[in-house]
Amino acid sequence: GLPERVTIWEVGPRDGLQNEATTVPVEVKLEFLDRLAAAGLSVLEATSFVHPKWVPQLADAERLLAGLTRRDGVRYPVLVPNQKGLGRALAAGVRDVAVFASATEAFARRNLNSGLDAQFDMFTPVVTRATAEGLAVRGYLSMCFGDPWEGPVPVEQVVRAGRRLLDLGCGQLSLGDTIGVATAGHVEALLRAFADAGVDPSVLAVHFHDTYGQALANTLAALRRGVSTVDSSAGGLGGCPYAESATGNLATEDLVWLLDGLGIEHGVDLDALVATSAWMAERLGRPSPSRVVRALTG
Ligand code: HMG
Ligand code: MG
Repeated sequence: GLPERVTIWEVGPRDGLQNEATTVPVEVKLEFLDRLAAAGLSVLEATSFVHPKWVPQLADAERLLAGLTRRDGVRYPVLVPNQKGLGRALAAGVRDVAVFASATEAFARRNLNSGLDAQFDMFTPVVTRATAEGLAVRGYLSMCFGDPWEGPVPVEQVVRAGRRLLDLGCGQLSLGDTIGVATAGHVEALLRAFADAGVDPSVLAVHFHDTYGQALANTLAALRRGVSTVDSSAGGLGGCPYAESATGNLATEDLVWLLDGLGIEHGVDLDALVATSAWMAERLGRPSPSRVVRALTG
């Protein structure tokens, strides 16, 4: 059956803004984060401690964390690829981190300058230290449904890589459709394969990009399989600069509309969220791709 409550893992400030051609000023990012928290979102993926040359849009991670007013009951996870990134995050007072792996060789090389096996050697000391420091650790897995260089990705390969992240000590595994090619039947098949491998849906999250307009249908398929953490970005911001043809994430507003219709709790004030996305769209100089934002601001 469907979950009673869903945790929305808001990735707009990170996955969204990392893909904008223009770098958003840190003051605007801080206001964005505060408005998202005020709208009721309880997990805000704030930024990444990655190499500033790889993602210049998030090169202000230290300044962002220094200026952040943390609200009670709100988590502010950040991405850390390696020990250097974790060290920077700890120095900035971060309590929630995510490592990000690839289910394919090609993307491990392009996104991490690593390899399908070698990436786990990079993450092992990160997860070990983060756990010892009492941090919550999420593991992302990219290219779970298809890869722009390798094509379709076998389900067994994805389950094997996902299990490795969990075995390293990640408390949650977010399954990424980086380029948005998944369809609902494929989502069901992958989640069934994880269940067969002994992975409970309560440790899984889904991370859909809406490139082919399938993100909501895929989300419903995941909810029906017991997944209760869903990644999305306010206004549908987002993408991934190292993956061809990746567009924005599932829009948080579109997700909220679906959850409301299903009677699933989420804690978000839709009007406040839409106003925030409309405000951010103005800052970026382009309309939000979210259908719900457009419908409610038109
Ligand atoms: P590398 O060049 O192999 O790094 O990059 P290295 O270890 O060889 O070090 C080279 C230099 O970088 C050294 O400096 C390091 O200190 C420095 P030098 O000695 O030459 O002066 N360095 C760093 N500096 C700051 N912060 C760091 C850091 N690490 C090394 N953390 C690396 C390897 C992993 C760093 C690089 O490939 C990288 O930063 N990649 C990040 C790419 C990225 O952020 N992609 C987007 C996020 S993933 C995503 O969006 C998908 C997701 O949404 C899910 C989905 O949709 O599927 C999560
Ligand atoms: Mg993504």
